[in-house]
Amino acid sequence: MFEDKVILGFETSCDETAIAVMKNNKLLVNKISSQVDIHEKFGGVVPEVASRAHSEMIRNLFHLSLKEAQLELSDIDLIASTDGPGLVGSLVVGYNFAKSVAWSLEKPFLPIDHMVGHLSAPLIEHPQLDPPFLSLLVSGGHSQIVLVEEWEKYELLGSTIDDAAGEAFDKLSRYCGFGFPGGPAIQKLSEGGDESKIALPRPKTSGEFDYSFSGLKTAAMYYLRDLKKEDEVSRRDFAASYQEAIVDSLMGVFERAVKETNVPTISGGGGVIANRRLREKLAIFAEKNNKNIYLPSPILSTDNAAMICSAAQKNLTTKDLNINDVRLSSIIN
Ligand code: KG4
Ligand code: ZN
Repeated sequence: MFEDKVILGFETSCDETAIAVMKNNKLLVNKISSQVDIHEKFGGVVPEVASRAHSEMIRNLFHLSLKEAQLELSDIDLIASTDGPGLVGSLVVGYNFAKSVAWSLEKPFLPIDHMVGHLSAPLIEHPQLDPPFLSLLVSGGHSQIVLVEEWEKYELLGSTIDDAAGEAFDKLSRYCGFGFPGGPAIQKLSEGGDESKIALPRPKTSGEFDYSFSGLKTAAMYYLRDLKKEDEVSRRDFAASYQEAIVDSLMGVFERAVKETNVPTISGGGGVIANRRLREKLAIFAEKNNKNIYLPSPILSTDNAAMICSAAQKNLTTKDLNINDVRLSSIIN
């Protein structure tokens, strides 16, 4: 069996260079080198800059990860890497580095979908997570509701028709100069703010389980544009009201999907799942409706390579592949 093998995971789909080592379902190392400081002055991720920063960082991070795991190169049994979706210039750095390691060590290589990574992240802290369950995957590029009927059998029930939830945080934060990335900046600003102070829309879509956030973002921008001098609105109240509108929108559709599918368990992943208010509302909903809830902690919600190891581990155990099968497919590809 593969359970006791050592998996080395890579994730470089956006602006985090991340490497993790997992053995026997246990996380030995979870290294994340964030590029936030580099992109902050641009107000967003600059793809070319991100790609260069990954190239500069990845080799050192690789050696550091092995050192911290107290492992030799020869101890690695499998290498996994995100192969998309993401910024192409960023993806190729981690993917090619990972594949080169696999080739040089003559070890199997497993490409992992980034969103399957997010979906597998809760397993690291909650190994009892078991299908059927519904996962709310919300990041800077995606807002999806995924029904996991069994491992490897995913049904996309709904997704955003325009901006992703994280994008809605990021774009408004940039417009207002609240900080980068927008989600954590708005969450911090909203602390102590009155979330009912400003009436913002909760957009609806024609798709039963789809999302839309661009109208909300525009409404918030118009609100600021039309603000009169005598209107007393604090940045805190504005941030809290905007965050509440995003969280309410996410919850409304997700709750309906949970009720319709009648799954016993809910889960989630992606950077927006780190949001305190969203976690609070998901927990309340789970408790009221008697559902199990398994969320990754905030550090495993935003991009990381531990989730790539976790997805690889699950992939191997569920498909019951043996290591030679994986090696074959990696050479063919
Ligand atoms: O999954 P992720 O790290 O990268 C992508 O795959 O996109 O998600 C990044 C997104 C960004 O839009 C960021 O603003 C948002 O997640 N985010 C948050 C929080 N932390 C990160 N949004 C709301 N509240 C947070 N605490
Ligand atoms: Zn992500």
